[in-house]
Amino acid sequence: MYKQTAFILICGAVLIGTMTLGNAQNAPFGNAEDVDYASKLWQVMMDQKLVGDDSIKVRPFEGNEPHGTIQEVLATTATMDGHSGRLLVKRNHGAEGELSVEDVYDDPLSNLAAITIMFKRESGYDAENQDWFWAKYLPDGTLDKNPNGLQLAGRVAKGSDAGCIACHTAAGGEDLETLTSK
Ligand code: HEC
Repeated sequence: MYKQTAFILICGAVLIGTMTLGNAQNAPFGNAEDVDYASKLWQVMMDQKLVGDDSIKVRPFEGNEPHGTIQEVLATTATMDGHSGRLLVKRNHGAEGELSVEDVYDDPLSNLAAITIMFKRESGYDAENQDWFWAKYLPDGTLDKNPNGLQLAGRVAKGSDAGCIACHTAAGGEDLETLTSK
């Protein structure tokens, strides 16, 4: 009886393991190429002082979930591997207790929770979704992960009814940008 149960449990674990691996390989985001691209883009953003300890200050504002209570947004152009595109950088700030716009303006680093970005890639990268490259970084420049352990970079999460693309399709304008939809 115990043996049978153990056998079933092992089979289950192997099956789930295989499915997860399969997902990681076929996923439209979080693969090695996306992660590599995201890390090069982080360097470009460091050079332009869009991220990092030395980053340009902008007036924070009160935003909505899931992007943190206080946010800073910058819209600019960046060049990566010879391709130039629109780059939107959002710094998301959050704290356990109260956090005001003034707190973040005075100290933009202490409560920085994440940096979410959209970078317009070459045409055809993701034609149905306006060719955006999406990424969610932690303040140290590493990528945040979804509950399945996939790193959040690339076409996040194409084909899913949750995640960057799904919500921006609902919240954003034709270009999936909330900045230009208003
Ligand atoms: C549940 C909905 C939702 C999800 C999921 C979401 N966003 Fe957003 N995003 C918004 C809203 C709404 C705004 C406008 C600002 C605000 O009110 O918070 C926004 C704004 C932004 C902006 C500023 C530019 C703009 O369009 O205004 C960036 C960049 C951004 N999101 C990136 C991302 C990335 C990257 C992800 C995935 C890791 C993501 N978002 C997931 C709703 C969402």
